[in-house]
Amino acid sequence: MRQGEKGLALLPKARFVRHMTLRNDVRPMVQLDADAIRDAYRRWAGIYDATFGAVSMWGRRRTVGLVNRLPGRHVLEVGVGTGLALPLYDGAKQVTGIDLSAEMLAQARRKVRARGLSHVCALEEMDAEAMDFADGSFDVAAAMFVASVVPHPRRLVAELKRVVRPGGHILFVNHFSASGGVRLMAERALAPAARALGWHPDFRVDELLAQPDADRAVLRPVPPFGLFTLVHLPR
Ligand SMILES: C[S@@+](CC[C@H](N)C(=O)[O-])C[C@H]1O[C@@H](n2cnc3c(N)ncnc32)[C@H](O)[C@@H]1O
Repeated sequence: MRQGEKGLALLPKARFVRHMTLRNDVRPMVQLDADAIRDAYRRWAGIYDATFGAVSMWGRRRTVGLVNRLPGRHVLEVGVGTGLALPLYDGAKQVTGIDLSAEMLAQARRKVRARGLSHVCALEEMDAEAMDFADGSFDVAAAMFVASVVPHPRRLVAELKRVVRPGGHILFVNHFSASGGVRLMAERALAPAARALGWHPDFRVDELLAQPDADRAVLRPVPPFGLFTLVHLPR
């Protein structure tokens, strides 16, 4: 049991499994499974836009700004959530969004209807780690604030590589754990609350990217205060 775990009794309940793979720092990681993710985002759906959704808007603007400059029309957004990024896409793109949470998707569908976002061609309930799409279906895929949520980040990368055509692009924006200092201390203090938060505050970039992808990816800091990182992985 990790330090501070007792305090979780005070936090909202969500189902989870404990992932016993030891990390570099020899601490087991609390892992969210699909049911825990659905539970967490059922609770987040109504307040997401006004809370985390607001502070993370820079990340979405930078990511979708890059999507809009990249060639190709067919865009996949995995973990589309409440659809905060959907109005930011260029009208010439054709965007498909998927998410595990029906409640988050319901918010996204409301936005699409209210704003007449005709470039959004589909919003589907689907697991980003096991997608129904054929190989090479998309030119670009974006995963915004999703990598530190999914149970198996490397499986997510493998699926994105499968559904994006060779020569296409895969983008992530996420908070990655600091290498030291007060921020790392804060992340570690929050880590046991992953199941209540719905993401891992202490998620490291090497948990997402293996070699040779780690060397090929281009990483750029994103405001506020470089708290988030935009990762561009050419397929
Ligand atoms: C932190 S929210 C980010 C939402 C949105 N991308 C944004 O920028 O606001 C994470 C989203 O990923 C979704 N998610 C988590 N795991 C998933 C999976 N395996 N497949 C599809 N969606 C997933 C959650 O349901 C949630 O809506």
